[in-house]
Amino acid sequence: MYEEFLDFAVGVAREAGAIQLDAFRSGDLGVETKSNLYDVVTRVDKECEALIARRIAERFPGHALLGEEGGERGAAGSRWHWVVDPLDGTTNYSQGLPVFTVSIALQQDGETVVGVVYAPYLDELYTAVKGQGAWLASRGLQPRRIRVTRKESLGAAVLATGFPYDKDVNPDNNCDNVARILPRIRGLRRMGSAAYDLCAVAAGWIDGFWELALHVWDICAGELIVSEAGGVVEPLRPDRGVSILAGCPELVAEMRRYLR
Ligand code: IPD
Ligand code: CA
Ligand code: CA
Repeated sequence: MYEEFLDFAVGVAREAGAIQLDAFRSGDLGVETKSNLYDVVTRVDKECEALIARRIAERFPGHALLGEEGGERGAAGSRWHWVVDPLDGTTNYSQGLPVFTVSIALQQDGETVVGVVYAPYLDELYTAVKGQGAWLASRGLQPRRIRVTRKESLGAAVLATGFPYDKDVNPDNNCDNVARILPRIRGLRRMGSAAYDLCAVAAGWIDGFWELALHVWDICAGELIVSEAGGVVEPLRPDRGVSILAGCPELVAEMRRYLR
């Protein structure tokens, strides 16, 4: 029933990804700062969101949309709500680093039913439809089913995290968590795109992920992809925006002992 939406979202994500690849490492990114010096946006973020919003409005004029760059728009009160991060990993993108993604999710009556995360430089397309598993299509191969790892102990686990943009003014900036958990894990990565981090959990490239002070557009698609891959995405704490832990349930329980 959701196939039409999935195919649409994949097509639009690929279109946005093509725009990103076209300008990548070009020196013509129009980099500006947003909330502070550390929070950047490029003309490509804005172009990609404009494209995605236009495509949604053309095809589904009765739907609503939340996009990072343009906020809420479309048909207010619709039961269909798209949640879009047009370019997740803008710091990487603006530096010429290859981990960046387009993240598109669709919610029906508040429940996420379709999730698409596309990493154009890596040529990795992660998708999920509620109840139908999580899938990776890459390098021209047929999509294949992905699953989270089942590691239960931190000592064998490679985790990823990220750091909030207000890290300079808010001492609650995840450094304490890193200090507590780092000695106990096999490795820690800071890949720079929360949507990609979640997909990497879903595919088993990493075992777990946590981050504070994210936004719904960073995680909406990735959360469904993790849960359809047999993992869990749980709230870490209520007082720091969207703060989450992800992985298999046993590992998430272990991570909780050192993270807050
Ligand atoms: C950011 C990335 C990053 C995370 C930040 C996000 P943006 O999104 O997901 O990995 O650490 O918290 O804001 O700004 O590149 O869309
Ligand atoms: Ca983001
Ligand atoms: Ca973004």
